[in-house]
Amino acid sequence: MDFSLSEEHLMIRDAARDFAKTELLPGVIERDNKQEFPAEQVQKMGELGFLGMMVDPKYNGGGMDTVSYVLAMEELSKIDASCSVIVSVNNSLVCYGLEAYGTEAQKEKYLSKLATGEKLGAFCLSEPEAGSDATSQRTTAIDKGDHYLLNGTKNWITNGGTADYYLVIAQTDKEKKHRGINAFIVEKGWEGFEVGPKEDKLGIRGSDTHTLNFNDVKVPKENRIGEDGFGFKFAMKTLSGGRIGIAAQALGIASGAYELAKEYSKQRKTFGTEICNHQAIAFKLADMHTQIEAARHLVMKAAWDKDQGNNYDMSGAMAKLYASQVAMDVTVEAVQVHGGNGFVKEYHVERLMRDAKITQIYEGTSEIQKIVISRGLLRD
Ligand code: CAA
Ligand code: FAD
Repeated sequence: MDFSLSEEHLMIRDAARDFAKTELLPGVIERDNKQEFPAEQVQKMGELGFLGMMVDPKYNGGGMDTVSYVLAMEELSKIDASCSVIVSVNNSLVCYGLEAYGTEAQKEKYLSKLATGEKLGAFCLSEPEAGSDATSQRTTAIDKGDHYLLNGTKNWITNGGTADYYLVIAQTDKEKKHRGINAFIVEKGWEGFEVGPKEDKLGIRGSDTHTLNFNDVKVPKENRIGEDGFGFKFAMKTLSGGRIGIAAQALGIASGAYELAKEYSKQRKTFGTEICNHQAIAFKLADMHTQIEAARHLVMKAAWDKDQGNNYDMSGAMAKLYASQVAMDVTVEAVQVHGGNGFVKEYHVERLMRDAKITQIYEGTSEIQKIVISRGLLRD
């Protein structure tokens, strides 16, 4: 068994680390305060290849493996989780979904632009009445011969206002329940497609989250992804990989907070010595580091499973479940190590603590990950 990273993996990790420090760190507090979308940073991430890392070079992607992707996700998330969720959605939900299940024409028309960041993608599954219970889709797409007529509301959509291309899941035949669901590619600007107001959030405030309304939007037949009725499986299969990305995001948030806490504990003195010399603080660091290492092993195992062609439904769910809990625990402790300074924005850890929470909610809550894991265990 070899736990070491290849030269190429180390190069990608270092490139993401440098980029995060030089391009994401400046202004990260201000963007969080103002809920400002990191447009300039997203453009640069596209130019550097972070938005289509695993896509085949044939479609302008980086042709990298999932291990490279999670290494980059961890580094970007240490500094700015609002940027890393944009990377995650574009790479592992939108680009992956299109590359794995799209037609050649769809890949040429849409994927090749998404992989470079020329266009940004969004993944639209959730609805007011269909979050965890994702088969309860109310959005409908009625077959009209050469096109579908799309009607309904999606909510909580990441990149909702800033994306160009949207993968939209909708019910085409209610009688068939989840087997009557399809996925479609919808372009911004099509008649009847309206972006609702931006959510005012606890964390990842730089990422824009919107409700989307579809009123008689005409979607050409050729924009359906996969065979008729494949939409729910498409969403599930795509989310299995997406969850590895979010697990890596949680890992990054935790390691970013831990590194700040460790440094702070070596500077701050109380009772005549640096606080890391108080065993209560040193033990916190030991616990944080151990939890992070355990999370890293689960994240890497899930990424490796995907790269090897193994099933990764369970390993991805376990990585997300565990890493998101570690992100919560470690960021709370990082604030504690900082004392009063931990409670103010300047020291970054309060933002990381707020950002950590979403990793237990999106791409399937922790309770849903337990459903996926337990069903997998019992099926085996
Ligand atoms: N791969 C392939 N097929 C799958 C699958 C998978 N991983 N998981 C389920 N399926 C199939 C099942 O085989 C079944 O099909 P058949 O009946 O034809 O065999 C069908 O899907 C229905 O499966 P279930 O009966 O298991 O469905 P369920 O209603 O019990 O729900 C669930 C299962 C796992 C809870 C699912 O609804 C789920 O994942 N919910 C959470 C939704 C979610 O993660 N949303 C995230 C939105 S995107 C997002 O959040 C992005 C972001 O923030 C950045
Ligand atoms: P609910 O499903 O109502 O769940 C409420 C609570 O009940 C949770 O604790 C849940 O775990 C629990 N629960 C529900 N069912 C069960 C059960 N069977 N057993 C045990 N517990 C259960 N969605 C997209 O499609 N695309 C996006 O880009 C996207 N981005 C998001 C960005 C943000 C910032 C947020 C907040 C959400 C985003 N989502 C997105 C939606 C997200 O995936 C959902 O919020 C999530 O799946 C939970 O759905 P819900 O909010 O409807 O909660």
